[in-house]
Amino acid sequence: MIREANWIWRDGAVIPWRDANLHLLSLAVQFGSSVFEGVRCYATPRGPAIFRWQEHLRRLFDSCRIYRMVPEWTAEQLTAATAALITRNELDACYIRPMVLRGYGDAGMMPGVSPIETFIACWPWGTYLGDGALEQGVDVCVSTWQRPAPNTFPALAKAAGHYNNAQLIKMEAMANGYVEAIALAPNGLVSEGSGQNVFLVRDGILRTTAVDGTILSGITRASIITLARDLGIEVERGAIPREMLYTADEVFFTGTAAEVTPIRSIDRIEIGAGSAGPVTRVLQKRFLDIVHGRAADDHGWLTHVESIPGAVEGAAEVRSATAR
Ligand SMILES: Cc1ncc(COP(=O)(O)O)c(C=O)c1O
Repeated sequence: MIREANWIWRDGAVIPWRDANLHLLSLAVQFGSSVFEGVRCYATPRGPAIFRWQEHLRRLFDSCRIYRMVPEWTAEQLTAATAALITRNELDACYIRPMVLRGYGDAGMMPGVSPIETFIACWPWGTYLGDGALEQGVDVCVSTWQRPAPNTFPALAKAAGHYNNAQLIKMEAMANGYVEAIALAPNGLVSEGSGQNVFLVRDGILRTTAVDGTILSGITRASIITLARDLGIEVERGAIPREMLYTADEVFFTGTAAEVTPIRSIDRIEIGAGSAGPVTRVLQKRFLDIVHGRAADDHGWLTHVESIPGAVEGAAEVRSATAR
């Protein structure tokens, strides 16, 4: 169950969480016409800090472009709104969900008069794949559901409708006693999890799938590739046949929600020693140390909320409004 915060930003206004409603016949509800982002904001010694905010915003605007949606707000405006919202909600750490969607107006496929509406929500969110997942790893399967083929649903867009496929993958996995699944592309090669990219390690070499039209180009994926290179680990991007998963020394997921989650078994076949391997551990630690502000942010990945103009003033306004 989602842990509610107090406020949501909607097209320039901050409104109570429970008032962030849409008409039943909005195109977003009817057809999944909505693009969104998932971003983590971490508690650090310097206060809340958003991980790779600019990259997430860029992907949001890319998703809008692919779906011919023109948002009313600039990146700077969304940044200020997000910072103010986190402060208003008095959250040290949270998950941020900006959404740009097609609202109420049209009923057909040509969304001429349906307005483009923008929302930002944030709320507290812990470990995605369950308690202990980051330490002990998770048991997953290969899904019987495939990811959509290239040039069907544009995988580089993070669009709500695509997540019907992700739900099929996730629900089947859970119904069969796994916490998550790895889906294959229509060509039978490894694609990604329902909301995570996949990495494997064999003989010390890190390998992940290429951007092949079936995966989301994950921001955590890009970060792990950078960290691996910093640590002198060889990285390859390319095809991963299914069986390469079973014979890997280590396999792990990356994603905003999953962070860096070791995979200890796939289809009940133990991966390596059946626990998080050394390369996974070193990359996970480096990632978590940076995002929590315990290690130097050499790549400039953290945006400290207090450093964003408008963050603190925005919060003060609401506090005085609620006190009245
Ligand atoms: C389908 C899918 N693949 C991969 C990812 C991982 O991407 P990121 O690391 O940017 O969160 C996500 C999560 O956003 C996702 O939804």
